[in-house]
Amino acid sequence: MLELVHVGKSYPSARDQDGVRVLKDISLKVEKGQSLVIVGPSGSGKSTLLNIIGALDRPTSGQVLFDGRDLAGLDETELARIRNRQIGFVFQLHHLLPQCTVLENVLVPTLAGGKRSSAAETRDRAVELLDSVGLKEFLVRRPGELSGGQRQRVAVIRALINRPKLLLADEPTGSLDREASENIADLLIELNRSEQVTLIVVTHSLGLAGRIGHVMELREGMLTGGSS
Ligand SMILES: Nc1ncnc2c1ncn2[C@@H]1O[C@H](COP(=O)(O)OP(=O)(O)O)[C@@H](O)[C@H]1O
Ligand SMILES: [Mg+2]
Repeated sequence: MLELVHVGKSYPSARDQDGVRVLKDISLKVEKGQSLVIVGPSGSGKSTLLNIIGALDRPTSGQVLFDGRDLAGLDETELARIRNRQIGFVFQLHHLLPQCTVLENVLVPTLAGGKRSSAAETRDRAVELLDSVGLKEFLVRRPGELSGGQRQRVAVIRALINRPKLLLADEPTGSLDREASENIADLLIELNRSEQVTLIVVTHSLGLAGRIGHVMELREGMLTGGSS
């Protein structure tokens, strides 16, 4: 469902006319329902790669195929549609709206047009998902009243509310303590199975990687490995 073909990415640089080459030559195939972890040290280009996969950024060279469609051929409106409907994002910081309740936060991505289900169905799904991660008692609380781990669980559910095909997580446990990190890792794996969503996690944490599944390593702009 996702394929990267010789993807490269350079950022402009004041010092170097050719720019800084963060990604050199990345080829990758991800099948539906797979879970993949990409590890690499800080600054190795993990976020850059994930943003390209998630159509938040474009590669300098190479192709990104999503369900066989080359993202380079799509305009901003079509890309926004894919980002909203097909892809869920989880970041290191939860980015929840502080003035909204937990339930309202989860429903935010459903406010954009092109709804596939009724408001009542969507709300039921939100409540059911929040219940499944132990947050049923917190529906009308504000993010400020939750622990870091609980907030990140809300962010994960928000990412899944539109039933995306692909869930992308960038250092999802980066600001959590060890126990909360393990809980989030286990939750991602569980949802990968129960929601049949393809999962790609990038992290510098090897502990997290080992829990989630197939691990690849990003180093010097190249992707290597195949250890599970
Ligand atoms: N928008 C940008 N403009 C210029 N350089 C960038 C930009 N984003 C990232 N970089 C550089 O690209 C490299 C990789 O960054 P990043 O993808 O954030 O790595 P990671 O997520 O692995 O820490 C870093 O050297 C960073 O400074
Ligand atoms: Mg990063």
